Formats: sequence, C-alpha cells, structure tokens
Amino acid sequence: MKFQAPKGTYDILPEEQAYWRHVVARTHHVCQLYGYEQIEVPVFEETALFERGVGDTTDIVEKEMYTFPDRGGDSMTLRPEFTAGICRAYAEHGLHGRPQPMRFYAIGPAFRYERPQAGRFRQFFQIDVEVVGSQDPAIDLEVMLVAWHLYEDMGIRGLSFQVNSTGCPVCRPGYLDRLKSYYADRVDTLCEECRRRLHRNPLRLLDCKNESCQPLIEAAPRILDFLCPECDGHFAELRSYLDALARPYRVNHRLVRGLDYYTKTVFEVWAQGIGAQNAVCGGGRYDGLIEMIGGPSTPAIGFASGIERIILTMKSEGITPPALSGPRVCVAYLGREAKAAAVALTQELRGQNIGTTALWENRSLKAQMKNADRLGTDFTLILGTDEIAAGTVTIRRMADSVQQTVSRTDLVEILNGRKEFPCSS
Ligand code: HAM
Repeated sequence: MKFQAPKGTYDILPEEQAYWRHVVARTHHVCQLYGYEQIEVPVFEETALFERGVGDTTDIVEKEMYTFPDRGGDSMTLRPEFTAGICRAYAEHGLHGRPQPMRFYAIGPAFRYERPQAGRFRQFFQIDVEVVGSQDPAIDLEVMLVAWHLYEDMGIRGLSFQVNSTGCPVCRPGYLDRLKSYYADRVDTLCEECRRRLHRNPLRLLDCKNESCQPLIEAAPRILDFLCPECDGHFAELRSYLDALARPYRVNHRLVRGLDYYTKTVFEVWAQGIGAQNAVCGGGRYDGLIEMIGGPSTPAIGFASGIERIILTMKSEGITPPALSGPRVCVAYLGREAKAAAVALTQELRGQNIGTTALWENRSLKAQMKNADRLGTDFTLILGTDEIAAGTVTIRRMADSVQQTVSRTDLVEILNGRKEFPCSS
C-alpha cells in the first residue's frame, strides 16, 4: 500500500524551506515595524463560530469547511481563516478593556475543501493581520500598507491595490434591493450559479467569473452610488490618503469579497504573474463581526495573505531568498579508534556553538570528503591515529583545499575566527 499526501495538500521539502523561512522572517519584521503583536488561536473552533462569523451563505460555510464531530459529540471545524477566531479571542479575553486599537498578526495553516489548482490548496498557510477597535480610515490605510510593505520587502514588484466599499447595515440593504431587481429582470441570461445566489447572496453575483455574466456585471448598479453619508465620507477619506501616497490603486466596483462580515472598505493587493489567482491578499473592514459573535460592538479591519501565493509570485519574478546556513564543519575519521574520538569532537564543537556534522557509516575518507563538499561546509576536520596520538587535528579549508595540522587547543579559536587559519606549509 502506497500513501500520498491528501489531495490539495503538499509537503514542504528541505530545498523549499529557504522561501518559507524568508517569508515568515520578513512578516515578523514588517509586522513589528508597524507595531503589530503576534497572537495564536486554535486550529479548530466550534463550527457555529464560522457559521455566524464568516456567514452561512458563503462558499466557505456552504461547501468548504472541514467539519467533524469530536468524541464528545460537539461539532468542530478546522479554521478556514483566522479573523473569526481572533475576534472570538478578543471578546473572550475582554481585550476591549485594554488600550485601543489592538494590532494583531498571526501565521499558520488554514483549511478549505476547494478544487485544488495553482495557488489554491486545501491546506494553505495564511499571514493574517487585524486591527481591532478603530473606525479611522487612517487605520484602513495602515493595514493596506502593512500588506504592501510585506510584498515590497520580499522584493515583489508590479503591485496594485484594488479597493471598494461594501457599505454598512444602513445603506447596503437599499443597494441589495436595487441589485436584486436589476438581476431579477435579467434572470434568463444568468448562469446557473448566479441564479442560485441571487436571493441568498446577491452581492456575489458581481464576483462571477462566467463569461456570459460579464456584460451584466459591467452594467449593474454600483454600490458606491448608494453609500450613506457616513460610508461615503469614510471611503472618500481613505481615497484621499491613497491619492497622496501615489501608489497604484483602482476602485473596483466588482470587488465584494467572499465573506459576509465585511462593511465599508474592502481591498486586495494584486501582483502580476500568478495568473487567475492574482490576489496575493484580501481583506477589509468588519465593524459588525465582534458584536455578532457575542462581544461588544467594536470596529475592526484586517487582511490575510496566502504564503503559497507569495512564494509562487517570488518564483515567477525570479526572486531567490537568502540561502539557509548549514553546518560549518564536517568531521571525518579513519578507523575505529578515530571514530570514538570523532564522536567526542563533533559533540564538543556543537557545545561551542559551532555547527558540526559527520557522515559516520565507516565510509572511505574520499566518501566523507565528498559529503562535506556536498554540504558546503567551510572546514573538514580529519582524525586518524596519528592525530589522536599527537593531540592534533588536521583541518582542511574547503574553499581552497589548504590543509594544516593544528593542536586541539587552537582548533576552536580557528573555527571561531579568533585565530588565523595557518596558511604556511
Ligand atoms: P480570503 O480572501 O478568503 O480572506 O483569503 C485571503 C487570502 O488567503 C487570499 O487572498 C489568498 O492569498 C489566500 N487563500 C485563500 N484561500 C486559499 C486557498 N485555498 N489556497 C491558497 N491560498 C488561499 C480571508 O481569509 C479573510 N479572513 C481576510 C481578512 C482578514 N479579512 C479581514 N481580516
């Protein structure tokens, strides 16, 4: 019987780790630069949290959640995203009692039963950023800039913002009525999926990718024409900040996002070169979510970004991350007696904080040297019976194959760079 990773999941082999380490390290750096604090929430939560939070007419809740009864009979769901869990934690721990706003970030896996394709997986990693406790459009801009800064820091070019406003409970219902009646008059021309969504979640019709629906979307009523004065003013202020920054952005009236909790600002960052999945991140404001899940009425905004899509973008742009450093020293030995000494030396060097490895397996010196070469170590140390008798070690500098015999007392000093490598022959 042969096993494979489940469909839509993948292994991250050692040769891929440099990308992952780089993205995670830059995320910590940028988030800390903007004053965001790391938070961890569970990988699974009560199913009802996502049903209420993400919304039961969304694709995520309707068909993508990994939901299971636990052994106590409670329904649990692997998190399809972080926002609902972070809001649950905010409400549960009474974080509204602390100085506001609170700025959070999290990194970890999320799970959605989707049709796998390039940049879309069933287990994927998100970088999630949230600011809870502020209505100010300057915070909307700040959150958008965290995303931008992240990608720029990773060397990604060709970025642009897509922005829209989705209104609020005051103005959205009027718009939705208008949208429904617009589509109701044209129901015969709608694709099957849009027909199904028309009454359950009409906003999502603007998101349809089906060719035949495109002319209808273009001519559909636009939410920006229906915003109440508060939402209109909020969006205008955000746009004024974006104008002043002179970053490419487009007001995209089709941008509605696939989660129900959004109010006012929604945005994505698009990067060239990753095809159909060109949104590297998506987010927006969700001023009603915390109250909806039982907390105090609290405005908030955030975004999430899939690490796989960031890495795909880096690769398509030819960006290579800094190489990960391996051990600096390889110990080679000749014969049984030397092996025991090599075991001791290897551990002694690690104790001195010098990364050290050995091939073992009683292989020939040639094979041991080849292994050191493959690993790219700076030095190989050779121990034979002569060296052991004399209390010395032969040290080979791999860059130029210069080899010297040194005393055991000088060895650590040389490896630490406190003493010159003895070049004289
Ligand atoms: P989302 O648009 O569902 O929003 O996902 C955000 C990002 O996660 C996407 O832009 C994409 O990079 C990545 N992503 C989503 N699904 C997959 C998948 N199946 N495979 C690979 N990558 C994926 C949210 O999750 C919201 N919680 C964002 C948010 C935070 N809004 C406010 N705060």
